[in-house]
Amino acid sequence: MPSVTAAEVRASAPAHVRNARLIDWVARIAALAQPRAIHWCDGSQEEYDRLCQQLVDAGTFRKLERRPNSYLACSDPSDVARVEDRTFICSQNRDDAGPTNNWMDPGEMRALLQTGENALFRGAMRGRTLYVIPFSMGPLGSPISHVGVELSDSPYVAVNMRLMTRMGRAVLDLLGTDGDFVPCVHSVGAPLSDGQEDSRWPCNADVKYIVHYPETQEIWSYGSGYGGNALLGKKCFALRIASTMGREQGWLAEHMLILGVTTPEGRKYHVAAAFPSACGKTNFAMLIPPPALSGWQVTTIGDDIAWIKPGADGRLYAINPEAGYFGVAPGTNTATNPNCMRSIERDVIFTNVALTDDGDVWWEGMGPAPAHLIDWQGRDWTPELGASTGVKAAHPNARFTVAATNNPALDPAWDDPAGVPIDAFVFGGRRSTTVPLVTEARTWMEGIYMAATMGSETTAAAVGQQGVVRRDPFAMLPFCGYNMSDYFRHWLDMEHRLQALGATLPRIFCVNWFRKGSDGKFVWPGYGDNARVLKWMIERIEGRAQGEGHFFGISPRHQDLDWRGLDFDAARFEAIIDADPAAWRAELALHDALFQTLEKRLPPELRAVRQSIAAGLGH
Ligand code: OXD
Ligand code: MN
Repeated sequence: MPSVTAAEVRASAPAHVRNARLIDWVARIAALAQPRAIHWCDGSQEEYDRLCQQLVDAGTFRKLERRPNSYLACSDPSDVARVEDRTFICSQNRDDAGPTNNWMDPGEMRALLQTGENALFRGAMRGRTLYVIPFSMGPLGSPISHVGVELSDSPYVAVNMRLMTRMGRAVLDLLGTDGDFVPCVHSVGAPLSDGQEDSRWPCNADVKYIVHYPETQEIWSYGSGYGGNALLGKKCFALRIASTMGREQGWLAEHMLILGVTTPEGRKYHVAAAFPSACGKTNFAMLIPPPALSGWQVTTIGDDIAWIKPGADGRLYAINPEAGYFGVAPGTNTATNPNCMRSIERDVIFTNVALTDDGDVWWEGMGPAPAHLIDWQGRDWTPELGASTGVKAAHPNARFTVAATNNPALDPAWDDPAGVPIDAFVFGGRRSTTVPLVTEARTWMEGIYMAATMGSETTAAAVGQQGVVRRDPFAMLPFCGYNMSDYFRHWLDMEHRLQALGATLPRIFCVNWFRKGSDGKFVWPGYGDNARVLKWMIERIEGRAQGEGHFFGISPRHQDLDWRGLDFDAARFEAIIDADPAAWRAELALHDALFQTLEKRLPPELRAVRQSIAAGLGH
């Protein structure tokens, strides 16, 4: 099958593509990967519909009869989650990637991927179309936004990128003749020879590389078609590369949702909250307060990533760099997240959920299971089979992709180029023991300590063992594009930078919705009832709520939370708010182990906070 020549690539560029560096780069990548054709995405609805139909014809998508404009894709069983052990930060100096990232020398990695005789990208796109996908992370033209261009041989990626980012012609117009962009190259790593039939989910079952060059701000991804491995605007650009840009330029790229909260009196606050993957960020961002707290309203700015820049007034202004949600489906239902269920009534791409006999989707935790389903691997499934074998109908990391504009709780300022001012940061992990429901840091530094030492039980969002506690500083362990100790330093320095501008810093809180009782069940109802904790935070900011100081911060007493409409007595509250000194002595030992790993560049301030907590514990 003939591949396009560099001259043909140049000739294929539509007239509105005026950026010489872009055209040149596309030509170079085409010469390397040897695609059969080039498609310059314009981001139109017509193009989206056409590509979706093409995916239906190829057997990758199934159109859902019961949901307007919606499709189901089921991936190869080897390609279902982010692959953290195949993710690399290739800085010149190993210490700049730090001990928590996989590192390879950039020259060696380039040889492996691009320049060596058997480089993986050589001919990787043979027999496929190369899609040129221009996208803006953040509102078009915002001073906080940045542009990227992804070259991918996956039409699934192209349509997902249209939902997840501002994608298409307007971005090319913004780039003009000499605008800057982050180049992102992606191949599923499954070239087709002449006449070879394609598989429904092309990927490379054996070889995967998710590679970042922070110094030259480039992303190269090979072998996977799934989520964060392949939609390169998300984790690769908006977190790993952007975190390095933020460090150089004095801003923050964070694994945080952003929500607006309005009090019954109409005062508006903005909260940015970091949780590890699959710990309910989308639920928190779309929360509906219980009826008894009527008048309190939560609106969504973002559900996964925040880019945050200091303004001239010293306040921190946040945008959501994304334009859609790539959320975890299992567990989502009309009780846990009604706004989400409404968001995904139409215009959705589902990946790895189950198919009902009447052409709709189903997942564990959505509601009663129908009598028969086709599971995510295309096999017959019944509730009896699920109960007797434990086989899930939907993969635990099954996802929906949907545009933010489908969200009925979308904040009016979600697309505001100026961003929204942040009043509080929240850090939360999934911990069945030890960490209280909510604690307010007394100082910025104490808050940074809480965030830096955060632990969480692992979930299905990444390949690997699930349910084990791992330290996940700032929920950024898999996403920080540079040395984690330098990242702590960057956050600590922010205090002085903002204070110099005369600003009051955002408050910092640490939360844990996931404490379990001796019966192994969650004690806290969570979801909408998390509004009670949010209300306490806002009232703390306003100086209206009380709390009690303890050895690592301030937590509410039973009487400090609003219990209207919920029967939750003081004894149950005690079980989720207490900080047991013995458990905390063990916890501090785990913090020490983290600090040991990060020893080389660890800011000494963190050890000082650790010492004062230990002193408070009488240890
Ligand atoms: C995500 C993740 O997909 O954190 O957002 O894994
Ligand atoms: Mn995430």
